[in-house]
Amino acid sequence: MNCLHSPYYNRPIQPEVGHRMLRLRNKRILLGITGGIAAYKSAELTRELRRQGAEVHVVMTRAGQEFITPLTLQALSGNPVHTDLLDPEAEAGMGHIELARWADLVLVAPATADFMSRMAAGLGNDLLTTLCLATHSPIALAPAMNQGMWQDPATQKSIETLKSRGVTLFGPAEGSQACGEVGPGRMLEPVELVEHCAGMFQFECLTGKRVMITAGPTREAIDPVRYITNHSSGKMGFALAEAAAEAGAEVLLVAGPVNLETPERVKRVNIVSAEDLYKAVHDNMDDQDIFIGTAAVADYRPAQCAPGKLKKDPNSDAGLTIEMVRNPDIIASVAKLPEGKRPFTVGFAAETSDVVGYAKGKLQRKSLNMIIANDVSDSSIGFNSDNNAVTVIAPDYEEAIPTGSKRTLARQLVKMISQQFEQTRKQ
Ligand code: PMT
Repeated sequence: MNCLHSPYYNRPIQPEVGHRMLRLRNKRILLGITGGIAAYKSAELTRELRRQGAEVHVVMTRAGQEFITPLTLQALSGNPVHTDLLDPEAEAGMGHIELARWADLVLVAPATADFMSRMAAGLGNDLLTTLCLATHSPIALAPAMNQGMWQDPATQKSIETLKSRGVTLFGPAEGSQACGEVGPGRMLEPVELVEHCAGMFQFECLTGKRVMITAGPTREAIDPVRYITNHSSGKMGFALAEAAAEAGAEVLLVAGPVNLETPERVKRVNIVSAEDLYKAVHDNMDDQDIFIGTAAVADYRPAQCAPGKLKKDPNSDAGLTIEMVRNPDIIASVAKLPEGKRPFTVGFAAETSDVVGYAKGKLQRKSLNMIIANDVSDSSIGFNSDNNAVTVIAPDYEEAIPTGSKRTLARQLVKMISQQFEQTRKQ
């Protein structure tokens, strides 16, 4: 059954205006409910999420529906409840891929041992597991099960696997259980889960801060029809802009030629060449607190852009030599600004070998506060991919972040950058 109809459909639930949170305002939470007795708490959880301003879509497994009805969840979420993967009617509306893309956070509460082991095995044998495979958004699980099941090595192995893939666990709590036993395995209370969800969006960490981010490639003109460029898609920089805005910053995104929509609440300036980028950055530098350079800037440009299209000599096989000159190093020029004008400066390093070693060299040479190194020899991450894996480096700090979607990674990076920024300000 899908897209239920009830008189309560879309009945508004008032957010708690003035409450210290509303920290989930405008956030889209996909709530997965699997088959455990704690599913009764998911009704209250749905209410709480909406009270805090979140939009909620509920996905239920077959077993989940044995514990609580989709109708209840539909009334509380104000949205149709999704239950089937192979439902042509539902797929024609908001299908599983749209749902996976829609979510800012996938929260599975309760998450049973069975669900976690299916997810750890990479199965996509129902709507919820398929969504978890398809989404690029963060996934959080609120485990709920008998303490023996929780402590079983098979469950613990699944948890280890899921954590290594970047899945977050909320709980479980310890205490007396529905089955009469005492131990770990109780699902956290709805208010605690809502707190954890809010924590995933790191509100306030950049509130009131001004952040400039460069993104995408530059194009260096050879003549009016040809140019030199690189494979940057802008995805990493745009994801960072979105995450920084989400964290409360006023974001200016200076973007090379890319085919991406501007994230909400982000101001955008478009540029083409490295020289344009230099000008746009310095024209807008006043009062910036943080500068993040994800743009793949061409180090060289043709010494001259030919005024007309370069023609082949029909009588010769001779090659063409183009004289190239150095472009300005934009991030180094930002890092060299005098005290008081200089923002906290974060570079990216795209490397194909000795990734961390070369990145450390750039950190020093360009006088940066932080550098984020990525291995662009691996085509599944880095340039033009939806995923990335990076090492975050500061003078006294180094941390590797495993492969994840650029959106997820961007949120982690924003948190780490804001922490380093605050530490530097205290010194
Ligand atoms: O855009 P995507 O497809 O999502 O791919 C993301 C990415 C791989 C482009 C991104 O994650 C990345 O690594 N960006 C930096 C790419 C790069 O040019 O690295 P670099 O090592 O050449 O430069 C180091 C730093 O100096 C960068 O912050 C760069 O923006 C900056 N730079 C470089 C040259 C120059 N003339 N001016 C600069 O400001």
